[in-house]
Amino acid sequence: MHPMLTIAVKAARRAGRIINQASQNLDALTVSKKSHSDYVSEVDGAAEEAIIKVLSTAYPDHAILAEEGGSRGDSKKSEYQWIIDPLDGTTNFLHGFPKYSVSIAVKYKGVLTHAVVYDPNNNELFTASRGSGAYLNDHRIRVSKRTRFEDCLIGTGLPFRDLTHMDAYFAMLKDIVPRTAGIRRPGSAALDLAYVAAGRYDGFWEIGLAPWDMAAGCLLITEAGGLVGDLQGDGTYLESGQIVAGNPKVFASLLQVIVPHLTPALIEAQRDAKAS
Ligand code: IPD
Ligand code: CA
Ligand code: CA
Repeated sequence: MHPMLTIAVKAARRAGRIINQASQNLDALTVSKKSHSDYVSEVDGAAEEAIIKVLSTAYPDHAILAEEGGSRGDSKKSEYQWIIDPLDGTTNFLHGFPKYSVSIAVKYKGVLTHAVVYDPNNNELFTASRGSGAYLNDHRIRVSKRTRFEDCLIGTGLPFRDLTHMDAYFAMLKDIVPRTAGIRRPGSAALDLAYVAAGRYDGFWEIGLAPWDMAAGCLLITEAGGLVGDLQGDGTYLESGQIVAGNPKVFASLLQVIVPHLTPALIEAQRDAKAS
């Protein structure tokens, strides 16, 4: 394992221990609301602090982009930037619904290079390094081989915080449901993407994600032989927050259904992401 990935794994496991411990006594947690349907607890902050301590001890000069306020450094000046979601699926966690994860990725010169998604509930560790494949615990994983759209299981995320693209999203959903074997919305985008890499889902799409929800999962998918793009199949997903992913055939099938539902607002968001 590359030393940088080893450090990322150490950080993810440390956060996982904090999350698992706190899950034993959810009633004791102080929960606050960042915005509509956007909850945060002290566990998110404690997990982020633990991750940043491990990373910044090993790499004091690297820049960090972290969800809960721990961002530091300038990604334009530092060749390395870590992208961290200390607890992806906070709402699930707070409800004792066992689908959440820790997500850590690092970019080198703007390119995703190492990734970890850790599910502390099931002790499932998904890792990838550019050019070296993707792994679940010690086993190599690959995207599914399914090609018939009607046989496919598709993951997604329902809009719940920013409802701007709600109508467009539901038009997509309405079109995808009858064409596939089923849809799942567990509530941790990082874990959803890891499941695409592991072939548990054949494809995935969501609108309105942040870079920390996606960065690690995207590298897992491409290293597992899958494709990731925005809603037009282009490369701006980390910036636009609009994502489609899957094995190569299902990626194309999803785009075919999604593109006719793109609204001027969605296209504009993608154009802005391209320009940024
Ligand atoms: C959320 C989860 C969820 C997705 C949301 C994310 P958080 O992350 O990934 O699946 O639908 O868009 O914000 O807020 O629990 O870290
Ligand atoms: Ca998240
Ligand atoms: Ca989070």
